[in-house]
Amino acid sequence: MENLIFLIGFRAVGKTTVGKELAVRLGCDFLDTDLIICQRKAASIEQIVKAEGWEGFRHLESEVLAELAECSNSVVATGGGAIMHREPWLVLRRNALIVWLTAPPEALVSRFRQDEGSGENRPSLTGKDISAEILDILKIREPFYRETAHLVIDTEMIEVAKVVDKIQQAYVQKMGRGKK
Ligand code: S3P
Repeated sequence: MENLIFLIGFRAVGKTTVGKELAVRLGCDFLDTDLIICQRKAASIEQIVKAEGWEGFRHLESEVLAELAECSNSVVATGGGAIMHREPWLVLRRNALIVWLTAPPEALVSRFRQDEGSGENRPSLTGKDISAEILDILKIREPFYRETAHLVIDTEMIEVAKVVDKIQQAYVQKMGRGKK
């Protein structure tokens, strides 16, 4: 396994916050699929979706994911919908530790509302109100998060540093096994 960790999970669960702290802890680079896409297009997700639809955004997302399979020494936060591109994950699962950050739907709603970037970065996926959208989309995505993750961490009741501890522990174990 390369020195590579992918964080997956629903919108606003805290992948970027955890990812940044984890990267500092491990002395790795921090990468974010949404950020890479926006830098490439010099536009916000809202602008990309307005111009190209979700289809255009997903196309870019799958390209970025496939490219990231080649990198190492990095912690990567992925957009909540990145899990739906099935092919890249077959490769990523072999090369990286994949961590699913979860939280109950009510916590996701409240984090979504609290995050000032939600408007620009998280245009509606369904046109429904946010609580109904989260329930609907979670139902579709949960099996994919579950089958892809090596490790699942419920972030509802624990602070970021503790989440980072758990990932670091799993990472050290996995690296150790890889060397045998
Ligand atoms: C999306 C999640 C967002 C971003 C885009 C689509 C999704 O990323 O990729 O708005 O489909 O769940 P975060 O998970 O970082 O919010």
